Amino acid sequence: MKITIAEVSKHVDQQVTLGCWLANKRSSGKIAFLQLRDGTGFIQGVVVKADVPEETFAQAKSLTQESSMYVTGTVQRDERSPFGYELLVQGIEVLHESVDYPITPKAHGPEFLMDNRHLWLRSKRQHAVMKVRNEIIRATYQFFNENGFSKVDPPILTGSAPEGTTELFATKYFDEDAFLSQSGQLYMEAAAMALGKVFSFGPTFRAEKSKTRRHLIEFWMIEPEMAFYEFEDNLKVQEEYVSFIVQSVLENCKLELNTLGRDVSVLEKITAPFPRITYDEAIKFLHQKGFDDIQWGDDFGAPHETAIAESYDKPVFITHYPTTIKPFYMQPDPNRDDVVLCADLIAPEGYGEIIGGSQRIHDYELLKKRLAEHGLNEEAYKWYLELRQYGSVPHSGFGLGLERTVGWITGVEHVRETIPFPRLLNRLYP
Ligand code: 4AD
Ligand code: MG
Repeated sequence: MKITIAEVSKHVDQQVTLGCWLANKRSSGKIAFLQLRDGTGFIQGVVVKADVPEETFAQAKSLTQESSMYVTGTVQRDERSPFGYELLVQGIEVLHESVDYPITPKAHGPEFLMDNRHLWLRSKRQHAVMKVRNEIIRATYQFFNENGFSKVDPPILTGSAPEGTTELFATKYFDEDAFLSQSGQLYMEAAAMALGKVFSFGPTFRAEKSKTRRHLIEFWMIEPEMAFYEFEDNLKVQEEYVSFIVQSVLENCKLELNTLGRDVSVLEKITAPFPRITYDEAIKFLHQKGFDDIQWGDDFGAPHETAIAESYDKPVFITHYPTTIKPFYMQPDPNRDDVVLCADLIAPEGYGEIIGGSQRIHDYELLKKRLAEHGLNEEAYKWYLELRQYGSVPHSGFGLGLERTVGWITGVEHVRETIPFPRLLNRLYP
């Protein structure tokens, strides 16, 4: 019977056939160990010379890395492997012989691996990262569906710039100027007025000239938006959502976390509520820590965020940033208008900001004033302003960066390993 590696636990002591590739191999005169992969998982195939026809053993010994084949054998329990099973091989049918596979088991540099990303994805580690990414996506849909949110898809081609005009990918829309979306938020606000609680999940684009381990040019964002939710309500959704995805990964990706060598005791602590500090407190804290360069009114850089995050074993909300360093749409604090009702969620262990969110301005006149202050063309935001003319309500939302979240949960160092085909500064291939 043809099955996948993910299904072997249901076929113990039965003869099965796997369509698979050879990930790696070692052999002696009497036995060959084949590391087989089929996309659903990895299993060791054992070929015992004394038990198979001579040609089969010779064939096993000559198999090349990444050759594709059908392997027939008996599923056996194996206490020593983290997977728990192995395959006692009886027959091999090679489908395609792979010659000189470039990614050999020896160590390779990151640029070489990135040039071969289309093949590198097959490696055990990359496979594990992609499975965790998939679980985060699955858990995201589950969380928002179970909590009464509707998924809404904002456009990718837009005429507006929610997060500032310096990082836009400009393109032509026939005769008009257009941009690739840097955030679906403004459209999600319109959707929240129609559907109450909404979320989006889609690609976003930022022409950021940053070459750091946290920046992608194209990344995926989850953007919930909620009518009648104020600042506090917004933080509650965020901490519950983030805890839910971490706990889902712990439950459903045990093997993958093991493959990645992730310390799960760190992740087990990620439960709501999360600690909070204000921007003012963060500045004071940084001064105590010897960061003399930072002044009230400056934005935080990666070293500042890391220093703050190190004081906590959960993600931490930094709230109430200065109005001057945040986008035009954020609601001012009712008690002082030099700060806004916003929060960034900073992941532990130096992974940086994974969420940016805020309460949104719902007053027409104030929003109009802010657009002007930010030099944004009112005509392009006419529809957005109109949301404040017909039954405006307090509302809030946030955006979670999928790749930074995958990076943190898997413990991989660089965000380039958290997306199948990363778009980085100077990299559009493969
Ligand atoms: O903080 P940002 O820019 O917020 C927004 O775009 C809001 N409009 C979201 C909203 O309220 N609906 O981006 C949100 C998150 C960041 O916290 C970060 O996790 C991720 O998106 N992000 C990036 N991830 C990878 N590469 C980049 N260049 C990123 N820029 C932002
Ligand atoms: Mg941000």
